[in-house]
Amino acid sequence: MIQGLAGTPPAGNRVNDRSADAIGVFDSGVGGLSVLRALRAELPAERFVYVADSGHAPYGERDDTHVIARSHAIARHLIAQHHIKALVVACNTATAAAIHRLRQDFADLPIVGIEPALKPAAAQSQTQHIGVLATRGTLNSEKFRTLLASLEGQAHFVLQACDGLADAIERDDAIKIEALCDHFARAIGPFGLQEPAVDTLVLGCTHYPFATDALRASVGPQIAFQEGGAPVARQTRRLLEARGWLAPQAKTSPAPVFGTTGDPAKLQSAIARWLQLPTDVAALTIA
Ligand code: DGL
Repeated sequence: MIQGLAGTPPAGNRVNDRSADAIGVFDSGVGGLSVLRALRAELPAERFVYVADSGHAPYGERDDTHVIARSHAIARHLIAQHHIKALVVACNTATAAAIHRLRQDFADLPIVGIEPALKPAAAQSQTQHIGVLATRGTLNSEKFRTLLASLEGQAHFVLQACDGLADAIERDDAIKIEALCDHFARAIGPFGLQEPAVDTLVLGCTHYPFATDALRASVGPQIAFQEGGAPVARQTRRLLEARGWLAPQAKTSPAPVFGTTGDPAKLQSAIARWLQLPTDVAALTIA
């Protein structure tokens, strides 16, 4: 473990060439690692700085004021300490609550958010009955209601707020994860490939891809899972490409830099498990 991240110097001295600068990524905790995984697959030459705000999680059961304040504090930290060229909000809850304000307040910074993958789910579902697992904060947000309204008539969505699930994943509490996944799956079902069964499950919180085994055990082998990491990675590429800010090709992928406002050992073991990366994790205080 290291104490405090060393600041990342700005790239070169060409005023508008940001190509060598890092991309900032944050989540309330370990969940955004599922988005970082997709980002590294899409953009292997890029440098990433990841902040897990585990000391102030979960976001999904807190009010918007908390989530907006934390999102701004982390954005300021990433800009000041790492001179980031883009920000990925790897959290559905923070995107829903804070992305408009972030875009207003950091107007020069390309910012990519994540939303529950309802559109890809509707395009792929055969029964047009789709389960949506997300935090209470995401499901209650105006942004989510607008997304849902835009798909009216295209599919039937069964919404399920998963109180406690992100926290159980954060704590790596396998027994609780299994019990909650089973409980929420039962509330959504029946599952199957014939109408009117649910054949697709949207994992509308970036933590939930790390509960895939438990969910699979509850819903069976044929149900499709939709998560939002890959579209976020493609959108990040598009924004950087449009500005000419993509990192030059590299022979090896740069190792991401990690920090957390929670327990570094916990993030370190999640990184080893989910990204297969041995790495140091800095203990951060972000006020
Ligand atoms: N990972 C976050 C999301 O995508 C939220 C988890 C939490 O409640 O903190 O919504």
